[in-house]
Amino acid sequence: MVKRYVFGSPIETDSVLCKPEAIGWQESRLQLQDNVISCELRAEEIVYGLGQNVRGINKRGWIYESNCVDEPQHTESKLSLYGAHNFLILDGEQKIGIFVDTPAKVTFDIGYTDYEQMRIVPDTPDFELYVIEEESLDGIVSTFRKLIGRSYIPPLWAFGYGQSRWGYDSAEYVREVAAGYRDNHIPIDSIYLDIDYMERYKDFTVNEDRFPDFAELVKQMREQGIHLVPIIDGGVKKEDGYDVYEEGKKNGYFCKDAKGEDFVIGVWPGRSCLPDMLNEEAGRWFAGKYKILLDKGIDGFWNDMNEPAIFYSEKGLKEAFDKIDVYRTQNLDVDTFFAFQNTATSVSNSPEDYAAFYHQYKGKRYCHQQVHNLFGYYMTRRAGEAFEELSPDKRILLFSRASCIGMHRYGGVWQGDNNSWWSHLLMNIRMMPSLNMCGFLYTGADLGGFGNNTTEDLLIRWLSFGVFTPLMRNHSVRGSRMQEVYRFRSMELMRDVIGVRYQLLPYLYSEYMKAALLDKMMFRPLGFVYEEDQLARRVEDQLMLGDSIMIAPVYEQNVVGRTVYIPEPMKLIRFHAGQVQEEEIYQKGFVYVEMPLGDVCVFLKENRILPLSKGGESVEEVDFEDLKLYCFGENVQPYAYYMDDGVSKRCSLESGIRILKV
Ligand code: GLC
Repeated sequence: MVKRYVFGSPIETDSVLCKPEAIGWQESRLQLQDNVISCELRAEEIVYGLGQNVRGINKRGWIYESNCVDEPQHTESKLSLYGAHNFLILDGEQKIGIFVDTPAKVTFDIGYTDYEQMRIVPDTPDFELYVIEEESLDGIVSTFRKLIGRSYIPPLWAFGYGQSRWGYDSAEYVREVAAGYRDNHIPIDSIYLDIDYMERYKDFTVNEDRFPDFAELVKQMREQGIHLVPIIDGGVKKEDGYDVYEEGKKNGYFCKDAKGEDFVIGVWPGRSCLPDMLNEEAGRWFAGKYKILLDKGIDGFWNDMNEPAIFYSEKGLKEAFDKIDVYRTQNLDVDTFFAFQNTATSVSNSPEDYAAFYHQYKGKRYCHQQVHNLFGYYMTRRAGEAFEELSPDKRILLFSRASCIGMHRYGGVWQGDNNSWWSHLLMNIRMMPSLNMCGFLYTGADLGGFGNNTTEDLLIRWLSFGVFTPLMRNHSVRGSRMQEVYRFRSMELMRDVIGVRYQLLPYLYSEYMKAALLDKMMFRPLGFVYEEDQLARRVEDQLMLGDSIMIAPVYEQNVVGRTVYIPEPMKLIRFHAGQVQEEEIYQKGFVYVEMPLGDVCVFLKENRILPLSKGGESVEEVDFEDLKLYCFGENVQPYAYYMDDGVSKRCSLESGIRILKV
């Protein structure tokens, strides 16, 4: 059951597609006072949700904001990351789902000020609130997902392994990376092009000197079974004579300041303008430019810097330089030294700048602050819509850094600039179900970690988890330790780990597609499946993946195994050195399982089937028909196996599902 409440005159986000009639307040569990929604939390209650954010699967005990931020330090102390996902679920005696629909910031104090209280504070009095009641947690998620519409479906090849790095700055470099994989028989399906492929970081350009005959490079890579996936940034370089800038300026497509002038920000290319992604005409114009790269044979993109990231504004920069001039003459003491130190960093992503420009959205003018969380969403949405026309029969890979619920219909998300830290591997694990609840199924983190230097063992462990995430991409920042797997001493081990992905593909794709087409989650916390099991409900580092298996990744350095909670009889299937080994059947309880580096373990449920392929060096090579079915138990349930051509946009359960039996 869904109840919809409307307060004030909310700005339409298009997050919800089918809206029930609004009603007057009739909640007993939730209180509403002065636009604050609050409720008591009982001791045993768990709060799930909030999509992309810091901390645990259970969100209790911290304060969170939904406020898309360009935040490269994903530490526990942060309140928000790149996504604004205002959906949460209270799992207590009564189970309810809550969605706050507004494009502005919302604060969720989930037992931070008082462990037994939750307070939801939207920044605006104008918002919509949805309250969902169902018998089960899965039921709440499905009902919510039906409201917000079907999740994005990428092409099948996008489930292959991808290699990325900020710094692949020439065609030779790209060829070298491809050869590093192909020559060593390490499976791969994509190489990502970061801003280095552009001419001075200008969207929709290619640096002709370093990437001569780009279309030919794309073609050559395709012949090797590799898709090139370029990045597109949210800001357009302000440069006379650059056609995208000139067109945007002439047609008034850029966000304006209070005086009606194009608002100028600093990002990678230096001074830039922001296309008004919210303005339908401007957004469509920008999205139409993807054709330039589609025409060169590209069939996948990642949208970046679309919170939008603002390194500086003209005003912010001037004020900072003025302040520094003052500090120059001072004795920098306890009061002034830190202020001086902060002067340069605080020019980035500043609230003053977000309050200083305007959008045209659905026929009205809004200050950016009011609609902040829609920018990345609309950048990606317009691109997704453009692909309907530019590529009507072929799926295009698309994912974004910033997002808001609603964007899940048009693309996926990656988890942004994490670090090569063990804690970020754990964060990656925990974020999967939270994102799935909010409709984001195509997701994954930068494997090995983006910032800082990875270590060989961290990369192996992260790949061993990454084999399960729909987006499986190794990405790193320029200047950090090189992270391509063929560069490491234990390359063979890593090759085996990546190989597991290709064996799992039939199951992963099938579970992904069923989750998308049936409005379900692919990754679930254990508490969703074992609702009455108080131990299962508290597990923060294991996940149910689809209907057949549970995973329990290793996320600590120097350990050789881990304790796993087994919620019902399960058989350990171990991928070791290219072999699939069927091992013990564990009974309910805690067990210690050895997991040396390079082993990938899955826990198969009794009477369920795990179909595995023989693998391959690219998705094209995988035989999705020649499957071995793993199972145990007396009463093995048939497996609903979904498969299609992996390309066409018409996907349906009727034509895709086949029943596999042992
Ligand atoms: C942003 C992206 C990162 C990319 C970098 C350069 O920080 O999040 O993935 O490598 O920009 O484009």
